[in-house]
Amino acid sequence: MATYTLKVRRYQPESGEGPYWEEFDVDLDPSLSVLDGLLQAKDRDDGSLSVRCSCRAAICGSCGMKVNGSSTLACKTQIGEAHEAANRRNGESEPIVVEPMGNMPVIKDLITDMESTHWTKIRRVTPWLLPHGEPPEREYVVEPESMIDITQSMACIQCGACVSSCLSMEADPDFIGPAALAKAYRFVGDPRDAETKERLHDLAHDPHGIYDCTHCFSCIDACPKGVAPMDQIMRLRRKAAEEGVDDDPNNGANHVNAFVKMIEKKGTNDEALLIQESYAPGIKGKLKPTKGAIKGLVESLPTVLRAIKTGKARSLPKLIPGVHPKLPDGAQDEVKAIYEHAEEHREEFNLYIKGEEETE
Ligand code: SF4
Ligand code: SF4
Ligand code: FES
Repeated sequence: MATYTLKVRRYQPESGEGPYWEEFDVDLDPSLSVLDGLLQAKDRDDGSLSVRCSCRAAICGSCGMKVNGSSTLACKTQIGEAHEAANRRNGESEPIVVEPMGNMPVIKDLITDMESTHWTKIRRVTPWLLPHGEPPEREYVVEPESMIDITQSMACIQCGACVSSCLSMEADPDFIGPAALAKAYRFVGDPRDAETKERLHDLAHDPHGIYDCTHCFSCIDACPKGVAPMDQIMRLRRKAAEEGVDDDPNNGANHVNAFVKMIEKKGTNDEALLIQESYAPGIKGKLKPTKGAIKGLVESLPTVLRAIKTGKARSLPKLIPGVHPKLPDGAQDEVKAIYEHAEEHREEFNLYIKGEEETE
């Protein structure tokens, strides 16, 4: 048994006051959870401390919140580990910081309004099967192998941790978001569904759809059930390309194709060429930009100017297609070889880059 300090972000709307921080000392075995700590504080110190929970076993998805800044389930986070993480993050004997989930309005203390940001978006993706024809007399029978692809997305418990951590959603609250798009893949990948192409067309053409994700990996880190929503979004994009959904006004499919072509041919990214190829496929001298491409390029100008201003594209060569920094020691050939291998073996290939932090 040890004493831990929880620093909780409180908000009691009926008081008319704004949010504030309050600390609670709790006595618990380190193997118990942050949720156990909050319930002890509620029981011993302040019955008005509001937290949503039910199963206390990482099954119901009710207790999503931020612990030390990371979106997670409070019942799945051991208080001893959270204490160590707080010390690593903030310095010796710092409290465990507990806040409501992000990207959602707060109703009271740690309880957020999941209707407006989560459930509305889940309904947006038509989360039920749309089979055609007469239903079978008994149940649908499918090959077990054909369901393997969607089992990961089926593991979702709708906790909202991924939504809370999504960086794109911070910038664009209308983004359909990681949880709803993972749910969309659950039906797109289901062999019983007969409207796969219509679903993909809808999600690709929505300006806040599958091409609004910036691959930040936050949802993968946050998800307590290993759903890896970003991977499901990438699967939706691949499927859209396979199904020929390449006329989206987001220019997403063309961008993906341009990127793939560049990795295949060069083994590295050439950002200036990527923009050109995305809007007007056909490298160098063969540019035939469509009306949409010209509009897209003009709309990209503020982004380009920001890149120059922030230093991302500070050197002139970086702005010229075909002129880009080379990777050292034949690394580009290695990347091309990896591409060829993946292509030959038709493997799904998700690349996780580690090692930028000193500790990794
Ligand atoms: S990877 Fe995409 S969906 Fe996931 S948190 Fe980042 S921007 Fe959001
Ligand atoms: S995908 Fe993971 S983090 Fe997102 S709602 Fe489902 S279980 Fe929670
Ligand atoms: S209380 Fe059910 S998931 Fe945490």
